[in-house]
Formats: sequence, structure tokens, C-alpha cells
Amino acid sequence: MNIRYGVIGTGYFGAELARALKNCKGAIISAVFDPENGEMIANELSCDNTQSLEALISRQDVDCVIVATPNYLHKEPVLLAAQYKKHVFCEKPIALNYQDCDEMVKTCEKNGVIFMAGHIMNFFNGVHKAKQLINDGVIGKVLYCHTARNGWEDEQPDISWKKIQAKSGGHLYHHIHELDCVQFLMGGMPKTVTMTANNVAHHSEKFGDEDDMIFINMEFHDGRFALLEYGSAFRWGEHYVLIQGEKGAIKLDMYHCAGTLRIDGQESHFLIHESQEEDDDRTRIYTSTEMDGAIQYGKPGKRTPRWLNSIIQKEMSYLHNILSGMKPSTEFEKLLTGEAARAAIATADACKLSRNENRKVQLTEILHQH
Ligand SMILES: NC(=O)c1ccc[n+]([C@@H]2O[C@H](COP(=O)([O-])OP(=O)(O)OC[C@H]3O[C@@H](n4cnc5c(N)ncnc54)[C@H](O)[C@@H]3O)[C@@H](O)[C@H]2O)c1
Repeated sequence: MNIRYGVIGTGYFGAELARALKNCKGAIISAVFDPENGEMIANELSCDNTQSLEALISRQDVDCVIVATPNYLHKEPVLLAAQYKKHVFCEKPIALNYQDCDEMVKTCEKNGVIFMAGHIMNFFNGVHKAKQLINDGVIGKVLYCHTARNGWEDEQPDISWKKIQAKSGGHLYHHIHELDCVQFLMGGMPKTVTMTANNVAHHSEKFGDEDDMIFINMEFHDGRFALLEYGSAFRWGEHYVLIQGEKGAIKLDMYHCAGTLRIDGQESHFLIHESQEEDDDRTRIYTSTEMDGAIQYGKPGKRTPRWLNSIIQKEMSYLHNILSGMKPSTEFEKLLTGEAARAAIATADACKLSRNENRKVQLTEILHQH
């Protein structure tokens, strides 16, 4: 049986998601909607270019809607798709506050549709391997995670919506990947968070208005910790997830791309992506571009690098297989209902409140606010 897709937002990422879907057996792209770039991509994919959100979503030949609009424009298409009983895949961050996420998750649940979030790190070979090592008890109980995703941003030819706090949510929301990954590895949300942040080096009107240094401290119920660092004011760029266990440690390094397991002073290595060539390619890109790879942004017409291409293919094949009847593993169930994505935004909201009110914030303050 064919599954028919409609794609909303065909810029940098939406176009790649559509191309990857087109490679899946039994997947058909029926139509796209994007006032700026829809026509070009519709021509490339030989599908219809629709003129409105509802015109796309209401089509009989659309079973699943892919939402890849800018971050602040995810809610409306997700709600409308669910109301039309269409399955939804929505790019990250699914929304820029907990209430919106909650409404989106509940509307999809009420209408009995899948709501998969584009938390692509779940499909990294390295993340899968780390989770397996943790589940197998190889590094013992995870006591602490430390992530860094930072680099230096110079002036760009124009200011992307991705650099405007109200549209992207800033580094924390736009790069929700690491926060989501920490919650995946630690087994849930923290109890409290503290965040300090500021725009320390990008004040002029040639830049956006986001904080360019962000430091997050998370405390979990059973006394464990995580520390997350984000930003574009770091001359020494880094991008990693470091997992400290009782018996050993794991480092997922996305900059000098490699996975490392350290037990009793012995190190062994595994791939972050699908092949050594892909890992090496990512290292090359991070160490040789005009802007640090960890905080590099795409734009319409730009193509994704090879390592990202193959992850997108894996992610879209997974979605397509689920829609074709495959049962998800228990760990991926929350990825398919929006629950994991909502939990990540709950924590991000707690962080934002902590920064704005200069205090430690309990997650319950966000979860019980309505
Ligand atoms: N998972 C990842 O690793 C990853 C990577 C890049 C982007 N993304 C996400 O994908 C989404 C899109 O990002 P992008 O990099 O493609 O941005 P982009 O600016 O390249 O593309 C956005 C597209 O949306 C279109 N658009 C704007 N308003 C619209 C509307 N109301 N209806 C329909 N289309 C509209 C624009 O014309 C543009 O073509 C974002 O949520 C972003 O966070 C995810």
C-alpha cells in the first residue's frame, strides 16, 4: 500500500526530507506548500504545488503531513493536520513553549494520529550504541551528562530567522537535540534547572538578538546531574555529549567525529554515523568551514552534508515504515506521540524562566501551570 505525503515548508530541510521520502518504496509525495520555494521543489519532485495550508492538508491523496516551516510556524499546520486526521511529522523544536506543545500532542492523540518529532539524533548510530551500552550496564548507572554545542559566529550576509529569538527560540530551542538526548540517556526530565545566559559578543544590529552563551545546570530526582552549554560566542568550538557512569564513560564527539567508550583506562571506539567516511566528512566540515559546524545554519537551496543526508534517509525510512505498519520499539514510542519533544520543551521553558527570574526552577512549575 502506498503512503502519500504532503510537505509544508520546502526550504533547506523540508526539501531534503521530501527527497529522502521519495526514495522510500511505496512513498509518494503528492504536494507541497511553501509560498517562497514550493514551486521549485514541486517541479523537482514532480508533484503539485498548493496555494494554501488547508489546500494541502485537506487533500484526499495526503495521508501524512511533513511540517518543516520555521520553528514559530509549526503549531498551526500540526493542529490542522491532526484535525483532518492526517499523521504528522514535525521538525524540531515542535514549538517554542510547553503550552503549545501540550496542545499539539493532545490534539494528535485525540484524533488518533502519529505525531513524530524530528529529533534526528535518535537515529545516530553513536546515540543508539551509547543507549545500548547503558542498558547493558557496561558503564554502570549514569551519574552525569555534559553536552557542549558551541562555536563562533561571524557576521553573515543576512540575518536568518534562526538567529531571532522570537522565531527560533535561540540556541537552546533551535538546538534542542542535545537536551532531548540528555533526557533520553538519563531516563527522563530533571527535577530542577538553573540557567544563566547572555548575549556577550553579538550586540550590533548585524546580528540577531539571541543569547550567544548559555549554561544550564540540571539536577535529577535521584541526585544525578547534567550540564549543557550552547552558543555562538566560543572561539574554541566544541560539539559533544559526554556520559559519566559509575563504571565507565562514553563520549559522543560530533566535532572530531567519533564515539569512545572508556572502561578501566582502556578506550574503544565506535562510529557516530553510518561509516568512517561519514564521520571523517563531518570532522572535515567542522574543522574547515567559515563558521563552526556545530552552529552552522542551512538555508533554502543549500544541500545537507553527506552524514546528515544519510541520517535524514534513516529518519524518513523509519517514519515511512511506521506508517506502513511497523511496530516501534518501547524506547521510540515517545518519539512518535510528541511526548519526548514536549518533555524537552518543558525543560527548556524551565531554563528560560530560571534565566529570566535569576533563580533555580522546579520542572513542576512548568508542568502544573495550567
Ligand atoms: N533536524 C535537524 O537537524 C534540522 C536541521 C535544519 C532545520 N531543521 C528544522 O527544519 C525547519 C525548517 O528549517 P530550514 O532549515 O529548512 O529553514 P529554511 O528557512 O531553509 O526553510 C523554511 C521554509 O519554510 C517556508 N515557509 C515560511 N513560512 C511558511 C508558511 N507559513 N507556510 C509554509 N512554508 C513557509 C519558507 O519559505 C522556507 O522555504 C525548522 O523547524 C528547523 O528547526 C531541523
